[in-house]
Amino acid sequence: MKQRPAQVLRPASGRRRLAALAWGWLVGAGALASQPAPAWTTNGDAGTGAQIYLQGQGADGQPLAAERAHGLIARGREAACVQCHRSSGMGGAEGNVAVPPVQGALLAAPGQAPRRQQGRVAPGLQRAQADAERRPAYTLATLQRALTQGLSASGQRLDPLMPRYALNDADVRHLAAYLDTLVLGQAPGVERSTLHLASIDTADTPPEVREATTGLLQRCLTERSPPAPATDAQPPRWVLHRWTLGSDPAQWQAELARLEQAQPVFALLSGTTGPTGRGAWQSIQRHCEQTGLPCILPHTAAVDDRLGTHWSFHFSRGVSLEASAVAQWLADNPPVPGWAAVQQVVQTSSEPARLAAERLTEHLREQGMVTITTELTAEPGGAPPRANLPLALWMDAPALQAYTRHHAPPPGAAPVFVSGELLDLDLGMLPPAWRPRVLMTYPYDPAERHLPRLALNAGPRLAALGLEPASQPALLRLQAHSATVCEMAVNALSRMGGRANREYFLELIESAEDAAIATAYPRFTLGPEQRHGSKGLWLVRWDPAHPQRLQPVSGWITPP
Ligand code: HEC
Repeated sequence: MKQRPAQVLRPASGRRRLAALAWGWLVGAGALASQPAPAWTTNGDAGTGAQIYLQGQGADGQPLAAERAHGLIARGREAACVQCHRSSGMGGAEGNVAVPPVQGALLAAPGQAPRRQQGRVAPGLQRAQADAERRPAYTLATLQRALTQGLSASGQRLDPLMPRYALNDADVRHLAAYLDTLVLGQAPGVERSTLHLASIDTADTPPEVREATTGLLQRCLTERSPPAPATDAQPPRWVLHRWTLGSDPAQWQAELARLEQAQPVFALLSGTTGPTGRGAWQSIQRHCEQTGLPCILPHTAAVDDRLGTHWSFHFSRGVSLEASAVAQWLADNPPVPGWAAVQQVVQTSSEPARLAAERLTEHLREQGMVTITTELTAEPGGAPPRANLPLALWMDAPALQAYTRHHAPPPGAAPVFVSGELLDLDLGMLPPAWRPRVLMTYPYDPAERHLPRLALNAGPRLAALGLEPASQPALLRLQAHSATVCEMAVNALSRMGGRANREYFLELIESAEDAAIATAYPRFTLGPEQRHGSKGLWLVRWDPAHPQRLQPVSGWITPP
């Protein structure tokens, strides 16, 4: 696995600039399908080059030293090219300095003027662009001169933000060999005239949920796609395939592999599983990470924050976030003097419920607490609540309804935790005796704020697609979040144009959060290597004085 360095150099304005820059530079650059073969022969070792580029480590295994502006020296990871030129090699911007792309094929060819019909380049970015556009092709010798002396192929002095390195000609050949592996316009699912994408649903997803998710996305992408290109210079059109998997998550990886073999796709957009649309997802995430497939914002609650997430973006950490927030809240608010255990009842047929229980057990163990876990197998069975122990009920709404009808709440005053993710925020089924005892994790803005906002923001987009905003809150959230995924994908895909590259796509999604204006979350932010948009939640409880409203009992909890 590649090491992902921390991004240390990006000032606050960087990403907005990057968006503007990437746009001005790249839109219309569809011609990359015909990317020329590199014009230099490097005889270098791309693996050693990768070490230099990604980790700032020389061929001898020593950290590279780079001289920055004002004689400052950066070393190792901080000096690595990837910090500025990014994993894709597409660069972007640091502050108001443009960072040019450095793919081998682009460096070994004369600089090209972009087509700037969009005209959105910030004024401060003009100079840096001009040289990278007009310079002659680099040779290995002029590349070495650029890296060691800061002179471009045209002899112009490069901006001092581009460090000066002590690299010998062998290092430069390794580096160039690695830069040759950064290729644009060639990736699975990318054809000259069509870029293929897919969105997943499952056999047990009800039709209205599918319509609100994969159906909406397909309409939206079709509506917003560029037209079928008439020439090679125009960007490809986008086609979204709807893939319906079976209802057994254990089969999904194999099913996906078959689907991808029949029709390779560039990325998975969103995705919806199970009866609520927010069910199991971990095997799909594993598939995305193992095969390097971008998987952008599925609706699932089953987010395992222990899994690697370079290729997967999520709206939040889902039930993993709930588990860590409950553990943190218990640590800060001891429910009963001298307590040392939490009872959990888990609906084992639900992947998100299992995951939540597992994560809570781990967090409490770290705090020296024990969990007593029982499985909810035959409804409405399950272990009865024990006296004076905090109780966590990880189950969906029908199971919670059955459980709370069958059992009285636990004797004593300890709290009962239920999952807003699994219940889709619905506490309506609780019998009166349970209501005052229950605390629910609540990952969104309060309903009286987020529902009108979603209807307002997503409404016009839905109308444009011939759809009505759903009256049922959970469905409205699915619609709005699907519209958000569409908006972010359109933003990133338009900026990518013909320069299809999966790493580049991830970088563009990271900077497309501005397009996420219709989510139920109070804040939604992404950034370099940030993969979870919303970072926190509230704990809320039933308020007898305002039965229509849930009352927060905590601040916004953002566990590490
Ligand atoms: C701190 C940020 C930063 C780091 C780290 C960095 N660069 Fe750069 N690089 C830049 C900037 C900014 C420019 C544009 C300078 C200008 O146009 O005046 C640039 C320009 C270049 C150019 C010239 C491109 C052209 O078309 O003329 C090459 C080649 C290059 N960098 C390669 C590298 C390599 C290889 C590394 C790692 C060994 C690296 N850079 C590390 C910021 C950086």
